[in-house]
Formats: sequence, C-alpha cells, structure tokens
Amino acid sequence: MKEVLDELDRRREAARMGGGQRRIDAQHGRGKLTARERIEILLDEGSFEEFDMFVEHRCTDFGMESQKISGDGVVTGWGTVNGRTVFLFSKDFTVFGGSLSETHAKKMVKIQDMALKNRAPVIGLFDAGGARIQEGVAALAGYGEVFQRNVLASGVIPQISLIMGPCAGGDVYSPAMTDFIFMVRDTSYMYVTGPDVVKTVTNETVTHEQLGGASVHTVKSSIADGAFENDVDALIEMRRLIDFLPSNNEADAPEFDVYDDPDRLDMSLDRLIPDNPNKPYDMKELILKTVDEGDFFEIQATHAKNIITGFGRMEGRTVGFIANQPMVLAGVLDSDASRKAARFVRFCDCFNIPIVTFVDVPGFLPGTAQEYGGLIKHGAKLLFAYSEATVPKVTVITRKAYGGAYDVMASKHIGGDINYAWPTAEIAVMGAKGAAEILYRSELGDPERIAARIKEYETRFANPFVAAERGYIDEVIFPHSTRKRVSRALKLLQNKHVEMPWKKHDNIPL
Ligand code: HXC
Repeated sequence: MKEVLDELDRRREAARMGGGQRRIDAQHGRGKLTARERIEILLDEGSFEEFDMFVEHRCTDFGMESQKISGDGVVTGWGTVNGRTVFLFSKDFTVFGGSLSETHAKKMVKIQDMALKNRAPVIGLFDAGGARIQEGVAALAGYGEVFQRNVLASGVIPQISLIMGPCAGGDVYSPAMTDFIFMVRDTSYMYVTGPDVVKTVTNETVTHEQLGGASVHTVKSSIADGAFENDVDALIEMRRLIDFLPSNNEADAPEFDVYDDPDRLDMSLDRLIPDNPNKPYDMKELILKTVDEGDFFEIQATHAKNIITGFGRMEGRTVGFIANQPMVLAGVLDSDASRKAARFVRFCDCFNIPIVTFVDVPGFLPGTAQEYGGLIKHGAKLLFAYSEATVPKVTVITRKAYGGAYDVMASKHIGGDINYAWPTAEIAVMGAKGAAEILYRSELGDPERIAARIKEYETRFANPFVAAERGYIDEVIFPHSTRKRVSRALKLLQNKHVEMPWKKHDNIPL
C-alpha cells in the first residue's frame, strides 16, 4: 500500500512542477506567479480541489508524442472565496505556453459545465499563447466548445476573466464573452493577432504593450474593466469583487454586517454643488458618502470617465451605482459613456442587483465625431438597458438633467421606481443660455434683452419643481439626507416584481 500511496505522491508532485523548474524560474523572472501560486492567493486557504491533474494531450504530430506533461497547460478545479464556491481554471504558461489543446479545452469545458450545473461563478486566469499550434483544428474545436458554454452561462452565473500574461488568438474570445475582464499592468496583454502578424499584414511596428497592454484596454478600447499593479493585488481584488456578486441569477448577493447607520446624514453634501452652475464638482464624493463605509468597487474607472460605474453596498446589500461625472466633459453622455453604462446596467439587471443613478448631465455630446461614430445607437443602448431593467431603480438628480439625457438616466418615464431631486436640480430641454438663444434668435443683437430672457428661462425651468409638480420627481430631498432616502427607497423596493411580455430575447441595438 505504501508504494501505491508513494506513487500517487510522486505523480502529483510531477504534475505540480508543470513545465519544470527552469520555466517556473522564467515565469518568476518576469514578475509573474505560477498558475498554482495564483490559485493559492485567489481561494480561501486549503479550499482548492483540483480536477484532471493527470490529463495529457493526445497529439501525435510534430514529435508531440514524446512531450507529455500532466495537466496539459491548465490547472482546473473549485474552491471557496470567503466561504462561497467558485469554479476556476488557471492557464499554466510553463506548459506549452499555456496553449489550448483538445484535452486542455475539455478540462475547461468540464469546469464550465460544473459551474453552470451548480450555479456558481467561474473565474478564468489567463496566461497563454492561444491555440496549440501542433494540434490544428482539434484546438479550434476546443475553443468553440468553450465559447458556446460562455454564452450558455451568460446571465446565469457570473464569469470573470483575469489576464495575467499573454492572451492571444483564440484565448481572447472566451474572456470577451465573460462579464468582466481585468488585467495586470506591464505583464499582461491581449490581442487577436500579435505584433509579428501585424507587421506582416499592415506593416505597422508595435510592441506587445502598445498593441494590447493594460494601458490600451483600460483606457482606449474598454475591453478591460480595470487593471492592477501585480498578480497579488489583482487576485486580492478579485476576491473583493466576488464578495459583491451573487453566485447566480436566482441567488442574492451575500449580505455583509455593516456598522454604518443607514440613516446617517452628511451635512457636507449640502455644500457639494457649486454656486456657479458651470463649475464642476466630484460626483465620486457623493457616491463615497452614500455607500456603506465608503467601500466602492469601480468598474472601468479609466475609460469614459464622464460616467462612473461600480458596486457599493447599502445596509450590507450590493447596489450598482451609475453616475454622471461633472469633472470630466461636464458629465456629458457620449458614445463611450453610453456603452460603458449600458453594459453595467445589464449586468446588474441579469443578477438582480438594484441600481442607483446619480444624475448631473448636460445632454448628449454634439459633433460629427460622435454622430459618425454612432452616437444614436450607442445612446440607445443605455436607453434600452435602463428601460428593460426590472431591478429596483432609484434615481437622484443633483443638478443638470437636460434633454434626451434626462429621459435616459433612469427617469420615471422609463421605469425609474423612486426618483428624487436635490433642490439644486435643473430639469429642462436644454441649458437656459442655449434655450434663450434659440427661442429669441431675433433678439441676439441685444445683450441686455437676451440676458433677461436667459434669466426668465432659468427662473422657470432651472429647478426641480416643474417636474415635481407633474409627479416625475417623487420628492425634492435635502442633499444631506441622500443616504437615508436611498437606503429607505431600496428597502421599500426589496420585493419589487415586474413581469415583462414573453419574448425569446430582445434586440438591443448593438
Ligand atoms: C504551442 C506554444 C504556443 C502555441 C507558445 N508556445 N505559444 N506552443 N502553441 N500557440 C510555447 C513556445 O513554443 C515556448 O515553448 C513556450 O510556449 C513559451 O513561448 P515563448 O514564445 O518562448 O514565450 P514568449 O517569448 O513570452 O512569447 C509568448 C507569446 C508567443 C507571445 C504568446 O509564444 C507567441 O506568439 N505564441 C504564438 C501565439 C499565436 O499566434 N497563437 C496561435 C493563435 S491562433 P518552450 O518549449 O520553448 O518553452 C488561435 C486561433 C484560435 O489561437 C481562434 C479561435 C477563434
């Protein structure tokens, strides 16, 4: 018996060595952890149960018969994060560059199937060179199976991808269909085709970082939802994110004990809005002063900064926050901001996370760049997403709510459940100056008259009471009471239930 047990130990030890000490050292030399070291940090201590440790590839081409390594480039299994089950796969770059073979894909598919069956999140840690070149179509078939499961699981269980090294070719499309993608700065990059292919096809010379580093995907392309300094930070932040999320679309997000009084008043908020309506202020201050204990997990913090999206808690329960940011482009809605917020609204709605919207929006961004770039369709995404969302929706207008953007930002008319406004709110078709200049074009030559017209428009519309008179605003609230009012509103809406007409699925403008 001892020999049998020793043999198991020996085999396990060999599998744990992956591609061998030399490659492990090279991995460390690049500032990266190994696939297994990453799992240790991500999961609760001692909770990891590995599957398919002894799986090997079946390729017989290019001399692969003699190159078999247990595990075949991906470590898979399940464990817990703060006691809650998650399934995961972690690509092992030390084994054939983490590339995907037929059997490697089967291991991933097993995890995806088990996660879906058991309604628990899947986390993928990526550090890989795409399809196993020696395997050809068998690898492509494997990707297809993985992709299909990403789609089946979408909206049922949260799927999170963390890019921790190269992520090329077929490897990018599975993350692209998950709910969130995060990256590690300087050591990770994502692209469909690498710098060599780019050079051959387009004659462009780019580095890995310029083509698909975290600086590209968190700012320009918006492929990634955030980036972290190193592997350890990234994994610890993933644990924090998982704490905000429910395990599936029929479960509630975990509830946390909080010591922050839901009725807490914050008198400083009465001074947040500057006297000059054209002066910006930091909307993040309002979010941080509203959520429990100032704990806010921001999504896409460095892309389309004119809108803020992220998770916080109210009375210990997860809430999705969406807020125009007057500090950037005056909080205007452009194509990027609309897409960013729309995707966030849809995630919250899939997973029954209530939405709180803070509004200070001067409208949609005018100009040919925006119109040629499809602003109409991108803006419609946000309008559509808010309108179809059946989760509780609480809205607070702090200052401007102009034009179509007023409608879009979770207004009463598209299903806002509780709509508040601060006394500083201005709800109108447009700003007073623009309005007066259109309505009284013939008086433009007379600055005094025009100034009087602007004043007249301001007096009539630059307040929340016209909307409140019609019931479009449920109540005008004191800024200092925002946390209390939002908290009570969310409690009121806890059992909200809305039936939508039957359909196969909707047709959101893509
Ligand atoms: C087999 C691979 C591999 C691959 C890397 N390796 N990628 N083996 N198939 N796709 C192996 C290398 O041979 C090497 O083995 C080890 O992994 C480490 O690779 P290096 O090149 O030494 O590492 P590095 O310099 O860091 O470069 C990493 C890399 C590069 C940028 C990822 O390896 C690379 O460009 N790989 C190919 C990427 C690619 O074009 N993949 C196919 C995409 S097509 P040794 O033994 O030396 O350690 C695709 C189609 C699917 O994915 C489409 C589905 C929709």
